[in-house]
Formats: sequence, structure tokens, C-alpha cells
Amino acid sequence: MKKYTIAILPGDGIGPEVTREAVKVLKLIEARNDVEFELQEAPFGASAYFEQGHPFPESTKAICAAADAVLKGPVGLSYEATEKIPVDLRPERAAILPLRKFLNTYANLRPVYLPKGLAHFSPLKPEIIGDGIDIMMIRELVGGLYFGEKEVGVNARGLRYVKETLEYDEEQIARIVHVAFKQCMARKKVLHNIHKNNVLKSSVLWNEIVEEVAKQYPEVEVRHQLVDAAATLLCLNPRQFDVMVMENMFGDILSDQGGGILGSLGLMPSACLGETSAYYEPSHGSAPDIGGKNIANPYSMIGSVAMMLELSFDMREESRNIWNAMQSVFTQGYSTLDLSKPGSGVKMIATDAFGDRVVEELKKSR
Ligand code: IPM
Ligand code: MG
Repeated sequence: MKKYTIAILPGDGIGPEVTREAVKVLKLIEARNDVEFELQEAPFGASAYFEQGHPFPESTKAICAAADAVLKGPVGLSYEATEKIPVDLRPERAAILPLRKFLNTYANLRPVYLPKGLAHFSPLKPEIIGDGIDIMMIRELVGGLYFGEKEVGVNARGLRYVKETLEYDEEQIARIVHVAFKQCMARKKVLHNIHKNNVLKSSVLWNEIVEEVAKQYPEVEVRHQLVDAAATLLCLNPRQFDVMVMENMFGDILSDQGGGILGSLGLMPSACLGETSAYYEPSHGSAPDIGGKNIANPYSMIGSVAMMLELSFDMREESRNIWNAMQSVFTQGYSTLDLSKPGSGVKMIATDAFGDRVVEELKKSR
């Protein structure tokens, strides 16, 4: 029997309740496969700061380091609550970014997956959605502006100034570009390389490396696309995209636009992969305003489990079964208050009921 340790970081806001539903799915997968999951829960985020004085405690680090994979919920509290945390200990800066660096998860895979059954959530017109959208956005996750040197001060003219640096070396670029080409080989063999080489030197080097790495994947067609134009084309004609690769900041912005295409960031799970570590998280925030109300959809948390099964444990069929189970719950008309308005013909259910229905659907797949 295969045995895997999974660190579970429920996080803040809606994190704990959507994590609970994801764990239900993991339990069913465990029960019906020759696999054992040892789940180790650990504090992370603003709640960890208030309990233990740090949003990414040493004990949590140790659990993550020893785990085969990490399942992380969203973190962050309301504006007022956040104000009580010193700036340098707020969860984005002191937990999420350090987690990414600590595990060296440089490749962030964010699927913008809108099958026909979810098309009604999208603000895009039916003729633009066609028979569905399926884009894999690949974002570099441990370099660029996010991690470059920063300087804040007062300049010679007595003016306050700030300087943030965008730095990549060729190795950092090549490794994420390889991840993208490998995805392309398993998909439609078209890579959109997102850049801004008309302004940024970093994009000039980035594109050079893309061209060099491309030689190892002669079957893949590379299309270079300026990032600003890509934002427009994602609205006008998203179906032209299959795999998109980009640096950290571009990826942060365009992947949220991906959430817009889907109709909600709540429909966006993600995988963060390194050479030896992986963590999985929803792309959305912790929605503290609805935390604890049992109305948040657990889709992106359960979808993150599906990605974990595929990418960390090579359980492809079960991964597919989870995606399908979630689609069928939606196509049966069920939804949650965070995604749908009541009265629009939807059968409104709570977070836990949604999770239960996914589990029931999943049972039918064996
Ligand atoms: C994301 C988030 C994070 C990021 C924040 C919370 C630090 O927006 O995962 O996209 O900017 O990377
Ligand atoms: Mg973001």
C-alpha cells in the first residue's frame, strides 16, 4: 500500500470550512484505493499569528517539509483585523511568500477550466465560450518583483522613494519554461509565451530562453504574446489559448482575469510545484466577510485535491473522477450563495451539503 503524508493548512476566513469538504473527498479516495493518507493539520495565516505569534510557525514549516504534499486553504483576515498585525507579519508577506520560497515551488499551474456545464457562471457571451474554455496558465512563482530586492527611503531631493527589482536568471526561466512545454506536449502543443519585451529587458531574456528551450520541443508551436494584448484577447477570444506561460507578476494578474472569465475565483484551484515539493491551494482569498457562514463553494479547494492526486500521487483516474463529480453537482442545478443568486432556478445549498453531494457523485464513479 502506498502511504502519503499530507500537511493540511486550513488557513483563515472560509479556509477551514472549504478545507473540511476537501478532506471528505480525500477520505473517500483513501477508502477505495490502495493508498493511505496521513493528514497532519497545522496552523498557517492570520489565525496562526493570533494563536502563536507568527503566521508561518516553525512547527508548521517542519510539517510541510516532511509532507509529500501540502493542501493549503486561503489566508488573510478583514482589513480591520489585519491592521492589528504588524506589516511584516501579515500573512501574504510572512506566510504565503515564505511558504513558496521554503518549498521552492516555482511552477504555479492555474487552470481556467470552463466546461459547458459551468458556462452559466461566466460573464462572457455564449458565442465566445462556445463549447467551453480550457486554459492552463503557468506562472513563475518564486522570482521576479515579488522576491527582488526592495529599497524604501528618502532621496537626495528629500522625496520619499521606493525601488523594487525584477530579477531572473536563465536557470530560473528555463525551469518554468520546461514545465510549460511539458504541459503543452500533454495538451494541444501550442504555447503562448506572455511577455512585455517592448519595454522590459527581463522579457527580452525570458523570450530568448523560451526560444532556446523550444528547440527541445519541436512539436510545440510557440506564439509570443504581449501581456497587455493577452489581457484583451482573454476576453475577446479565450479559446485561442491552451497553455500560457509567464513571469510571477504577470501571472498574478492574468490568472485573476481567468477567474473573471469563469465568473468567480471560487472556481479556480491551483498547484504549486517544485522539484521535490508541492502545495495545492485555491487561487482565491479567504473571503473573511462570509467566513464561517457555510455559504462558500468548496470547488477550488476540492479541485486542488484533484490536482494533488494527479500531480503528486499519479492518481489520474481518481483526479478526473473528482472533476466530473463536481461538474455533475453543478449540472444538476446545485450551487452556493457565493456563486449564484437565489431564485435564478438554482438549488441553493450550503458548503457542507455541496461537499456531501460531490462525495455522493464521486461514489458513482466506481
Ligand atoms: C495569489 C495571491 C497572492 C499572490 C497574494 C495573496 C500574496 O494573489 O496567489 O495570486 O499575489 O501571489
Ligand atoms: Mg493573485
